[in-house]
Amino acid sequence: MRPALPGFREFYPPECALRNAIFATFRRVVRRFGFEEFDGPTLEPLELFTDKSGPEIASQLFHFADRGGRAVALRPEMTPTLARMVGARAAGLRRPIRWSNVGEAFRYERPQKGRLRSFYQMNADLLGEEDAAADGELVVLLLSILEEFGLTVNDFYLRVSDRQLWSLFLGSFGLADSAIGQVLSAIDKVEREGEEETKKKLGEIFHGNVAQLWAGIAALRSCNGTDDLRKFFSSTSLREATEKRLTDWDRLLECVASAGFSAHVAVDMTVVRGLAYYTGFVFEAFERGEKGRALAGGGRYDDLVEKLSGTPLAATGFAIGDVTLANLLVEKGLISDTSQQPIAFVLMEDAVRQAGLALVHGLRKKDLSVLWDLADNRSLARQMGRADRSGAAFALSIGVEEVAGDFVTVRSMASGAVERVARAEVGDWLARHGAVRLSPSLPSSSSS
Ligand code: HAM
Repeated sequence: MRPALPGFREFYPPECALRNAIFATFRRVVRRFGFEEFDGPTLEPLELFTDKSGPEIASQLFHFADRGGRAVALRPEMTPTLARMVGARAAGLRRPIRWSNVGEAFRYERPQKGRLRSFYQMNADLLGEEDAAADGELVVLLLSILEEFGLTVNDFYLRVSDRQLWSLFLGSFGLADSAIGQVLSAIDKVEREGEEETKKKLGEIFHGNVAQLWAGIAALRSCNGTDDLRKFFSSTSLREATEKRLTDWDRLLECVASAGFSAHVAVDMTVVRGLAYYTGFVFEAFERGEKGRALAGGGRYDDLVEKLSGTPLAATGFAIGDVTLANLLVEKGLISDTSQQPIAFVLMEDAVRQAGLALVHGLRKKDLSVLWDLADNRSLARQMGRADRSGAAFALSIGVEEVAGDFVTVRSMASGAVERVARAEVGDWLARHGAVRLSPSLPSSSSS
């Protein structure tokens, strides 16, 4: 037997139910914020990602030549596809555009806890609005989703940073846009690669005083509040240029505060994000604790739509991954009953099989999940054994006596209690007595 490929998951029914419960929560919350769901191709032209996502993702692509000789790649993320789709119809779309998607992405990474080669992301993106309130709205959406799962400020937090301030700062050293991109990519890896390696890289990109550049970078990295940022820039030639930007920060943080999320958010300039297209605010949600794995990430990318379609359009968005999120929910005991058991199992005497099957189909038409023993002429005792093993909440028996009296004998599998219920009433009786478990759901903070 050949196992599944490394980093790819098989979803047996319990895992599939858990995944669907997570997706249902994603979809419920984004609807509250007025997002519409869209979808795009899983397989895309290779250059959509090699040009636009940056070198890190480009090195992780699953790519190949198709039978027509086209260079193609499985999508490692949704953002370039979204930007192309919106750009193609930008003139006809009501703005601001709020689109979301739940879909699979593929990255050839070293599989480890929390990181796989195939995973799902929920993306939410807001396009056509430059105001920092759009970034604030998305940060609030992300935090609302995590809170909806029952996670609290003790479980996760969000780090917010700003590539626009970073670019202004690096530009003041005379660095051109492409060099700024390279420096940001080096800064993104400082924690992984260490100070010495980073300085070495800076020396290859910047031909001035690297010690001075590094001292400035280290000072900006250590800013962790808007007061710090104001103080940092007030002593530089960028004071005026950064003033307007700092009012954008105030607007973003005002959105966060008004939604009651101030304690969840940290200003943290060490975050720059690995993707190349970000141009403004960037943010990442992490679980708290020593593992501190990334739950979600996003930011503003005001140039991408124009690069892909020729139409300029401001954009900001984020994606939450399902892998670290599901691990955290399981660890915290926040996944409730996501089982897909039937509500009822119908036992029938062979002599009244037609009536038994009519009962089964009638209940299914009422959107109830109902099973019956497919084998011919099995004893009622054996049918009851199957009912027991099926996990059904109720066993409904129908035999000659029941048909004559136009009723069904209903047994609660949990308590053993037995009751006669009129045949026409069984559907309503079941709906009154048990959950209709066709749509598993997670506990929601609003209903608890
Ligand atoms: P990203 O930070 O690359 O951003 O991915 C977002 C989230 O996807 C991560 O925080 C993580 O939860 C999950 N993720 C990424 N790679 C893996 C992996 N190998 N295994 C498991 N989970 C993973 C983006 O993808 C941007 N396109 C987000 C965005 C949307 N920006 C603007 N709009």
